[in-house]
Amino acid sequence: MKTFPVFALLLASLAGHAETPQQIGATYGAEAAAQQAGFTPSARRGEILFRQRFAHNDKMPACTSCHTDNPLHAGQHVVTGKTIRPLAVATNGERFSDPAKVEKWFGRNCREVVGRACTPAEKADFVAYMTEVR
Ligand code: HEC
Repeated sequence: MKTFPVFALLLASLAGHAETPQQIGATYGAEAAAQQAGFTPSARRGEILFRQRFAHNDKMPACTSCHTDNPLHAGQHVVTGKTIRPLAVATNGERFSDPAKVEKWFGRNCREVVGRACTPAEKADFVAYMTEVR
């Protein structure tokens, strides 16, 4: 039993910057708490962000435009038609495990859909929702 965490750590270091969704969520949560005392991530607010329609981009008004209404299911890119694997950790164990990848896609998708960068609080909420949704 004692060998398991050591093995997990070794695997994590071999994979580069692999982290768990909980670690990635906690990092955004800490960043948000530094700006707003008492902040705690909320899966409920994350879901609201996921479903919210923004007036910024007619082609992709919401995160659901590509990721569909159900994050447990595969999505489809509105422009290229390419399949996108589910965002939810429950049905896609690779999600929220690579901090650089998570930052890259929050950057691109928030800019395109919301019209600005997402805040650390929004990212913490979104990760909480995708980690908890069943
Ligand atoms: C135009 C289509 C499109 C829209 C709209 C979109 N996404 Fe995505 N998203 C993608 C694609 C493509 C990827 C990368 C391919 C993949 O990881 O399966 C991705 C990946 C992600 C990831 C990476 C997660 C990980 O760990 O792998 C996050 C986070 C993300 N999107 C958040 C959002 C948020 C937040 C919104 C709404 C503000 C949004 N997306 C809207 C297409 C989209």
